[in-house]
Amino acid sequence: MHSDTLDLLHRTMEAQLVRAQHPEDFPYLPPVPAARYTDPGFARLEHDGLWMKNWLLAGHISDLPGPGSFFLFEQLNKSVIISRAKDGTIRAFHNACRHRGSALLLEHSGKAMRFVCPYHAWGYSLEGELKSVPDQHDFTCLDKAENGLLPVRCEVELGMIFINFDDNAGPLADFLAPQAPQKVGYPLEKMVVKQRLLVEMNCNWKLALHNFLEIYHVATVHAKSIAPYLDSPSFVVALFANGHMRFGTRKKKGDTIFEADLYKPDDVAEVFNQCTIALPTFPNAFYALDPGGFSLQSFWPAGVDKSIMEVRLMGWDIDSEADKEHWQAMNGIVRNILSEDLRLFQSIQNSFEQGTIPELRFGYQERACYWFEEEVDRSIGVDNIPEAQRVAQVLSGQMQR
Ligand code: FES
Ligand SMILES: [Fe+2]
Repeated sequence: MHSDTLDLLHRTMEAQLVRAQHPEDFPYLPPVPAARYTDPGFARLEHDGLWMKNWLLAGHISDLPGPGSFFLFEQLNKSVIISRAKDGTIRAFHNACRHRGSALLLEHSGKAMRFVCPYHAWGYSLEGELKSVPDQHDFTCLDKAENGLLPVRCEVELGMIFINFDDNAGPLADFLAPQAPQKVGYPLEKMVVKQRLLVEMNCNWKLALHNFLEIYHVATVHAKSIAPYLDSPSFVVALFANGHMRFGTRKKKGDTIFEADLYKPDDVAEVFNQCTIALPTFPNAFYALDPGGFSLQSFWPAGVDKSIMEVRLMGWDIDSEADKEHWQAMNGIVRNILSEDLRLFQSIQNSFEQGTIPELRFGYQERACYWFEEEVDRSIGVDNIPEAQRVAQVLSGQMQR
């Protein structure tokens, strides 16, 4: 973290620790309409205005170790090939053949030096060019140069691969810039994916994400698992442009669940030892930087009332038995903690589906949830949303610039 960023973190934390109520200038947060989590119409607005417009975390470069490595991004009813070419460049293409639309790759991940369609064997290079067409003489006027794979915007930031379905979107670095100073002093680019989990949830994706945007529930839901590590009263929130955020919480015992007596890089700044620095990244990613590694979570809709949490456990690039055992154990620990959260999600969805609870309320400690909801509306375009389903835009005065 830059020194001014760090000073600000510590100053807000001191103020947080002595406050007896929410700050005087904190605005009223009106209740949020439950229809945002149940109405298929709202989900369609999100599809067009949020998922098809924003940079989305698709994976990590450590999952593409060499030329020809690929994996598929398979969320939002899309199938996208993310692959590494011979020169190391990472590219994304729609996983659809230009002949008659078959998927080219059927395995979730692997290695291929050429993409050959399993239907009639059209072959494409790693650069997406159409290279071979069996019996090409039977196609009148087939211009191979015009029939390459359809590209998807793809950019990499500190090892994380993002895609964007909007060809007119601005650069990834600009999108992430408001949050970037928070990561300084943590060598994210040196990390690798150690484990991957997919968790299905019976609730709208935004309800699941809310759970990771506040610390309010930790004392009750995680009384024995996480609460002993976190000095919850020190929890501070910084709201940034583009819907990104930064949380900071002092560590009670100087460590977290991710600490092990294993290798740690020596270039991790001290603040990451003292505090858990979490980085909610709009629209759907969340991770908390810890010197031992972390869980990188992303949340995807799978229908209006179903969602998927994708979890990547991120650690350092070492290959030892002890490291493998550690991450295997972490897989179990993280699953247990998540199951503490997950057992309540379906009941929340039901309360809204049944109309029992028509709206939800967020307090000062939960302002990140509200900021996220505001950004959802800004992304869709407030005027495109039926008035009864909007959230009031009230928090921009609280944004940290
Ligand atoms: S659909 Fe791919 S070769 Fe026919
Ligand atoms: Fe939780």
